Amino acid sequence: MFEGLMMDKNYWIKKSGQDGNIIWRPGRSLGLKGAMGRIGNIARNVEEILKNKRKIKILEIGAGFGRALLELKRKYGDKVEVFGTNYEKDWNQKLTNEYALDQGFKKKDIPKIYMGFDAGKKLSFKSSSFDFVFCQATMQYISDRALFIEEVNRILTNHGLAVLELQEFRDDHPKKYKKMVEIWQDKKQIDFLRYLKKFSNLKIKKSRGRDWHYLIIKKSEGFKLNLKLKKVINVEKISSKYWGIKVLYELR
Ligand SMILES: C[S@@+](CC[C@H](N)C(=O)[O-])C[C@H]1O[C@@H](n2cnc3c(N)ncnc32)[C@H](O)[C@@H]1O
Repeated sequence: MFEGLMMDKNYWIKKSGQDGNIIWRPGRSLGLKGAMGRIGNIARNVEEILKNKRKIKILEIGAGFGRALLELKRKYGDKVEVFGTNYEKDWNQKLTNEYALDQGFKKKDIPKIYMGFDAGKKLSFKSSSFDFVFCQATMQYISDRALFIEEVNRILTNHGLAVLELQEFRDDHPKKYKKMVEIWQDKKQIDFLRYLKKFSNLKIKKSRGRDWHYLIIKKSEGFKLNLKLKKVINVEKISSKYWGIKVLYELR
């Protein structure tokens, strides 16, 4: 029902640097370092999962150039298989290949990229396909974030883990767009984070130095958030100074 966000901002991909080098868009090459302040130490998550399994599958939703996946593959080699998704058609396999080789990664480290991927819909992966799913600087563009959280749980393997940056609150937005997710029941608002905390398979953590939180999901069979998407507001259409889309839910 709700389409993903068509981004109107000028999302340039690459520029020529002074000495002939390529400058890649920094906000799409956050890598493991960028992840630290958003979703924590994801290499440590991978190491924990590897304690119980010899080889694991890793998926990043909204991978940009795929830097974090490239770094994980370089670090863990044959112990990991890496996959990423992007929404826009220019953010495809060819671009990731070009980025990876320019940045000194090896061909064997390049993740498989699924482009044209809208994570606000049922995900096109089989249940129990990935041991580790992560998502940084992306969830604010996903329309049905409650469905997304349920879907991520569905595609996790039995002992799988996911870490998703929520960006549920932005202090740099005007008051009515500070909360990027609202839940309503009988004209009363229910706090989104407090609601998530009710589920035993979910854990909320603060993103370091940022206004928002991230979510840790442990696979739980049949998990449902029981939220119905009612409204999607693209706040970037209201002002190019704002980020993402705001979503309103009703308790089912
Ligand atoms: C700021 S970039 C993420 C950067 C990347 N995670 C990194 O570490 O550099 C935002 C990402 O959101 C993705 N995206 C935008 N709309 C989306 C949607 N509806 N569903 C899934 N991904 C979406 C874009 O393709 C892009 O990869």
